[in-house]
Amino acid sequence: MLENCTDCPRLASFLVEVRGRHPDYHARPVASFGDPKARLLIVGLAPGMHGANRTGRPFTGDHAGILLYDTLHRFGFSNQAESVARDDGLELIDCRITNAVKCLPPGNKPEPDEIRGCNRFLADELRDSPGVGVILALGLVAHKAVLMAAGLKQTAFAFGHGARHLLPDEKILIDSYHCSRYNTQTRRLTEAGFHDVFRAIRAELA
Ligand code: URA
Repeated sequence: MLENCTDCPRLASFLVEVRGRHPDYHARPVASFGDPKARLLIVGLAPGMHGANRTGRPFTGDHAGILLYDTLHRFGFSNQAESVARDDGLELIDCRITNAVKCLPPGNKPEPDEIRGCNRFLADELRDSPGVGVILALGLVAHKAVLMAAGLKQTAFAFGHGARHLLPDEKILIDSYHCSRYNTQTRRLTEAGFHDVFRAIRAELA
């Protein structure tokens, strides 16, 4: 079960330490959030310390969630533009959000064996979501995790912002730069550039 997973020793002991420092934090694996029958699945990297790791909901309270949730609202995938807490009334519409790695990694950097170890949860999610038609990978780690979960060769699908990949099962994988604070502050990812990605997603789902 995801909720009690302690398979990655480094991540599990880090969470024990974080729970000691912040007894009010979720500080456990963070499950996916949103519509179980969604056609759009968004894959992020991993919970942030004071965001998803605190609130227990992907991108909720994380800086990266500001642009993401505002954009979801603009494009009709949610009923609210902000995501601040698990009980804030936010509902996703035809959309679900998950992470490549479900536990908070030290320094926001999961190790390769942790990404591999956690991949079974994403594989299960993909297998159990026949309705998903579009997968949005936020960043290279998410892109690679989706390919791994789908059992596909990494070299056959190159990551690129705005890239569209038709997967063998007919799902469409769309890539974006991650909406992290670093990427938005350096303007590697602009609001307009992120909206373009969602315009393309809407066109796929139309
Ligand atoms: N919060 C998440 O849940 N995932 C990310 O990738 C970044 C912040």
